[in-house]
Amino acid sequence: MTSDSTSQGPLRLGMVGGGSGAYIGNIHRIAARQDRHWDLVAGAFDVDAARGHAFAASEGLSAERSYDDYRAMIAGENAREDRIDAVAICTPNFTHFPIAKAFLEAGFDVICEKPLTATLEDAVTLERLVRETGRFMGVTYTYSGYPMIHEAKHMASTGMLGKIRTIQVEYPLEWMATAIESEGNAQAAWRTDPKKNGRGGSIGDIGTHAYHLAGFVSGLKLESLTADLATFVEGRALDDNAHVMLRYEGGARGLLWSSQVALGSSNGVRLRVFGETASLRWFQERPNELVHARLNGRTEIIKRGADELSEAAKVRTRTPPGHPEGYLEAFANLYAGFAEAIRAKRDGRQPTAIGRDIPTAYDGLKGVAFVDAVVDSAAANNQPWLTPVAV
Ligand code: NAI
Repeated sequence: MTSDSTSQGPLRLGMVGGGSGAYIGNIHRIAARQDRHWDLVAGAFDVDAARGHAFAASEGLSAERSYDDYRAMIAGENAREDRIDAVAICTPNFTHFPIAKAFLEAGFDVICEKPLTATLEDAVTLERLVRETGRFMGVTYTYSGYPMIHEAKHMASTGMLGKIRTIQVEYPLEWMATAIESEGNAQAAWRTDPKKNGRGGSIGDIGTHAYHLAGFVSGLKLESLTADLATFVEGRALDDNAHVMLRYEGGARGLLWSSQVALGSSNGVRLRVFGETASLRWFQERPNELVHARLNGRTEIIKRGADELSEAAKVRTRTPPGHPEGYLEAFANLYAGFAEAIRAKRDGRQPTAIGRDIPTAYDGLKGVAFVDAVVDSAAANNQPWLTPVAV
């Protein structure tokens, strides 16, 4: 019997990847600690075991819970009464599948980075395994942690936009505008290697965020798409810019743009949803505001922290309006939601608001299926939908 930290303070978190010099692992650690729902107690932090141990020591972890690799971690944690409650997988895409599969099969809950896997086949297998094992799996689609994104979802689902007609969503970045993968940039190196990244370059890395965000807020299911992928940086094997036309159930249309070569764009995630009676706009560089424009009426700026917001937005809000909250708090909201989902599952009850509408394995699978459809669309037809312009 393992002891259960459900009703005894923080859950115990283990981490794979996210060691020295890695990007997202540190964001996970900040987010997990923010509300005291989690304690980081174990890890296999690096593909290089010695570097991983040094990192674990710098984080103050006990040496016996710093492991050479994820297999040793599963064996070591399984032998403990106080084994970890969940593992966070913060490694490059192609490793998510074997690591997540091994932890699920050993009976651990999993928090996994996006895209869920590098191939659709692996994503299907993993999502099925989550259902078969009855374990919890959260997928860190960061932008669905923002309170004003939950407010937008609430407004769309309660008819405040009318029937949705079109969704415009974009995720432009500039950091890969030159061939930094050949200049020693570790993050860019694996992201431009199809074997490590998967089939979709910008579309897999950031297009999956945009796709999830559009579906999350609108509540609409994507039925079909057509895509135009481009690789602007010479010698790169994967797309670094994607334009995708979307058709949602019920006739709504959409446009998605993801780019790693958009100069001047840092993390300019932008969502606009246009309905029959009103529209909504949200921009991650002003994440505390949501702009609501009514047909022939007023345009209002809705601020995070306002009294009249939905419960879903309120439970994800920490400070009064005017004090900025942002990316780290959004990520912490995901971790709070994952903790609540795990606790509710163990307690046999429905999760409270923070544990509802959180991204799970199914959302991860949908993201990988989206990438596959985009790459197929762009590759298959050499664009018969392109019509030459006469003059
Ligand atoms: P990174 O290259 O900065 O870090 C990867 C880390 O994983 C390194 O510490 C490396 O040593 C370690 N690692 C690799 N293989 C390992 C193995 N088998 N066992 C243990 N450790 C291993 O990568 P980055 O940018 O942090 O991305 C990691 C994942 O996070 C990717 O799937 C990426 O798509 C995702 N990501 C998600 C973001 C979000 O907003 N949710 C933002 C950035 C990345």
